Amino acid sequence: MSNEQTQSGDRVQITNEQRERLREIWINSRDALQQVVTDLKITQDELNFAGRYFNRLGKSDMFPSLLAVGLAMTSLRATEGNEGGTPPNLEGPFHIKSAPKRENGQLWEKQPGPDARFLTLTGTVRDVQSGAPLEGVELDFWHADEDGGYDNTGFNLRGRIFSDEDGQYTLNTIVPKDYAEHDHDPIGEFFQALEQHNRRAAHIHLKANKPGFVPLTTQLYMPDGAYLHDDYVEGAVIPELTLNFDQISKDGRNISAKFDIAITSAPT
Ligand SMILES: [Fe+2]
Repeated sequence: MSNEQTQSGDRVQITNEQRERLREIWINSRDALQQVVTDLKITQDELNFAGRYFNRLGKSDMFPSLLAVGLAMTSLRATEGNEGGTPPNLEGPFHIKSAPKRENGQLWEKQPGPDARFLTLTGTVRDVQSGAPLEGVELDFWHADEDGGYDNTGFNLRGRIFSDEDGQYTLNTIVPKDYAEHDHDPIGEFFQALEQHNRRAAHIHLKANKPGFVPLTTQLYMPDGAYLHDDYVEGAVIPELTLNFDQISKDGRNISAKFDIAITSAPT
C-alpha cells in the first residue's frame, strides 16, 4: 500500500489499490485472530476492553508504531530480502533527508562529551551479483549520541559519505547508546503493563543508494550494548548486522570496526 491516502473531513480517501489491500489485510487478520479468541476464550467484555485500549493508542497517533514494533521486521523479511547482500532493517522515525555531505567522514558537529567513545568504521561497498566494488555509493548515516539522544533539529551525528573508486568508505563517529522510544506515551504504558521495557539496542542507521541499485535501509548494532539481546523491536537485532569492535585503545575510547556492504542492482 502506498501512502496516498488523504483526509477529507472525517472521511479518508483511499485508492482502489489501497481498498483491495485493506480488505485482504482485514480478512486475513480477522481469520487469524478468530483462533486467538477461541484459544484464549476471550469474552465480549474483554473484546470491548481491548478495543477501547487500542483505540486510545490510535488516538495518540501511536498505532502505526505499535504495528512496527511487532511486525515491521516480519514485513521486511517478506518483502525486502536483499538476498546475498546486507540484510535490510527498520528505518525508524528519526531520518532527516538531505543531511550534509561529510568530506572527511566525520559525523559529529558538536564536540562529543567526555564519556563518548570514538568509532572509526571502514568497509567496502560491493555489487551483490558480481562482487565488484562500487564507487560513488551514497551512505547516509544517522544515530543517537553517547547518551541515547538524537539531534532532531540539526545534523549532529548525521551525514552522507560516498564510497571511493575502490568501493571503500571511512566513517568517523562515536558509539551511540541504547535509548527508550516510548517512555512518555501510550505504547510505553502498554509495554509497562506487559512488564517489558521499550528500549532499542544501540545502533547506527544507514541508507545506501546508487542509481541503478535497489536502495538499502538498515541498522548496524553495537556489540557491547546493554540491550543487544533484548531489543524491544521483535527480531531487529541479527548477527549479520552486529559490528565487531576489532581494535579498542587501552583507555577504551578509540575503537575501530569493519563493515562491508553489498547492494543489489535494480531489476531492468
Ligand atoms: Fe534509531
